[in-house]
Amino acid sequence: MHDAFGRDVTYLRLSVTDLCNCRCVYCMPACGVPRLRHEDVLTFEQMQEIVAAAASLGVRKVRLTGGEPLVRRGIVDLVRMVADVPGVEEVDMTTNATLLAPVAADLRAAGLTRLNVSLDTLDGARYRKITRTGTLEDALAGLAAAREAGFSGTKVNCVLLGGINQDELRPLAELARGSDLCVRFIELMPMGACAAWPRERFLPADAVLAAVPELVPADATAPGVAQLYRAPGWRGTVGLIRPMTHRFCGQCNRIRVTADGRLKPCLHSAQEVDLRGLSGEELVRAVARGIAEKPGRHHMDMGHASQTPRAMSQIGG
Ligand code: 5AD
Ligand code: SF4
Repeated sequence: MHDAFGRDVTYLRLSVTDLCNCRCVYCMPACGVPRLRHEDVLTFEQMQEIVAAAASLGVRKVRLTGGEPLVRRGIVDLVRMVADVPGVEEVDMTTNATLLAPVAADLRAAGLTRLNVSLDTLDGARYRKITRTGTLEDALAGLAAAREAGFSGTKVNCVLLGGINQDELRPLAELARGSDLCVRFIELMPMGACAAWPRERFLPADAVLAAVPELVPADATAPGVAQLYRAPGWRGTVGLIRPMTHRFCGQCNRIRVTADGRLKPCLHSAQEVDLRGLSGEELVRAVARGIAEKPGRHHMDMGHASQTPRAMSQIGG
């Protein structure tokens, strides 16, 4: 289904839990965020019904997000239930990968198409500092397990953090040298915990091109919000996601649903459509309304924080 600006909405990001085993400094305040009440979190059946409603309107790709999706009990079953929905062609997951190693093969067998792994540093002490509770070895073990389980085209999400991982852009990019990984550098967006951070933390993605000058633009027609680059002789690719310096709202093809059943037409808007308690035609109409009402663009920049009142862990990126 097309929105009011002619964008074909084919992609649903479904947050399956607001909980996370990490507390990344830019994502969550140190004290955490108030957790949803158990009874407010969608059941797997409700999630499947929402996915089916979205698929009936043209959604073809579903990404499971969190919090951290792998802390949700039964997640392998949910992957299977979503993959079974007629019309769904791709089921992906964004994870910090620290809990991935033991379940990677099961996820693949259940029908998961692809993984995005969040990894902002290759230094163990720094990893602990950024995630507050995570262990780098666990994330790397998850990444290795993904490959062994047969996942290909895994994407590594690396948030650009001025003064924190700025000196690691080259080593991080080089993860794509000998493997088929796509290493995507994401400009930090001022929302929630990092909305009031000093300017120097917000590093433009051009810093990656300066750190790895052999990168050349590739495949400008590839779908999605990342601009892709290649380096001679590298197997993988490098992507730049630049919400701050190159607004890509015109290419935005996605809607989001939070773990408590609110459809968010735009990541950065406070606008939400409540899907709880709806089923059948009523649910389809509510999802269609969310797509129709998708704003043309966000209004976030260095002077203006995101307008969503939610923390990133409550939306899923
Ligand atoms: N700005 C940019 N990216 C963010 N992420 C979380 N918070 C922010 C933010 N404020 C990233 C995570 C994860 C993805 C879902 O979004 O690191 O990889
Ligand atoms: Fe957890 Fe992801 Fe937020 Fe980090 S960015 S605290 S891994 S939800």
